Amino acid sequence: MHVIIRQYEEECGVTVADIVDRAVRSGPATLGLATGSSPLSVYRELIRRHREDGLSFADAQAFLLDEYVGLPPSHPQSYANVIRAEFTAHVDIDDDRVYGPDGVGDDIATAATEYDVLLAESGPVDVQLLGIGANGHLGFNEPGSSLGSRTRVATLTEQTRTDNARFFDGVDDVPRHVITQGLGTIGAARHLVLIATGEHKAAAVAAAVEGPVTASCPASVLQLHPHVTMVVDEAAAARLEDADFYRYAMRHPAPLHG
Ligand code: F6R
Repeated sequence: MHVIIRQYEEECGVTVADIVDRAVRSGPATLGLATGSSPLSVYRELIRRHREDGLSFADAQAFLLDEYVGLPPSHPQSYANVIRAEFTAHVDIDDDRVYGPDGVGDDIATAATEYDVLLAESGPVDVQLLGIGANGHLGFNEPGSSLGSRTRVATLTEQTRTDNARFFDGVDDVPRHVITQGLGTIGAARHLVLIATGEHKAAAVAAAVEGPVTASCPASVLQLHPHVTMVVDEAAAARLEDADFYRYAMRHPAPLHG
């Protein structure tokens, strides 16, 4: 796992945007997109590069990590709508090539399975953007999720509903259920890139990077993946015991050849 510590959130966004930029410029890319606050600095930087540096997403396709059950794509807080508003509407990606789970159909359990199959057939995802919950969730795989889980309908913890209430009129409006890519589904991506900022993420980041691999901290499953980059600001890095080594490794990166 490659841990990159930056001082500020916007610098984290630039670092992650560099990774996406490289993937998109090197051929038709499949991107995995997260919602929530964490990737917003990445999307801002990618939109800027699209406008100012000719970064084109015309050949890319994208898959969302998760969706609330019961919110139609027209709902302001549905993730289908949020990703359009925050990112995809501002770049040249084809709207029909931005896929997400269907949280409002008659049979959402089947829709979740079909989304998993669609991902497997269209993937692998080249770069999967991730945030982390204060409780260590990845996607909406809450503590206790099987480390090999697939896309499915899942229940949010009260902590996550409370954390996400800021996007709604109040906690009562936050759906209790979601469709989320499973941890096994997420792990099929070639490169997992997690961004975390703020001291409220410090405990979860430390558990994910340095704790035991356990369903109690779903993001700890990242330790089993061959290509993971964790981009964190100083506040989110505050509880990493080996932070000095991660900084040292940043100054002395392992040579790619020879
Ligand atoms: C969002 C998602 C979640 C968030 C996590 C952090 O698509 O899958 O795992 O990444 O809840 O949310 P923020 O970034 O709002 O702190």
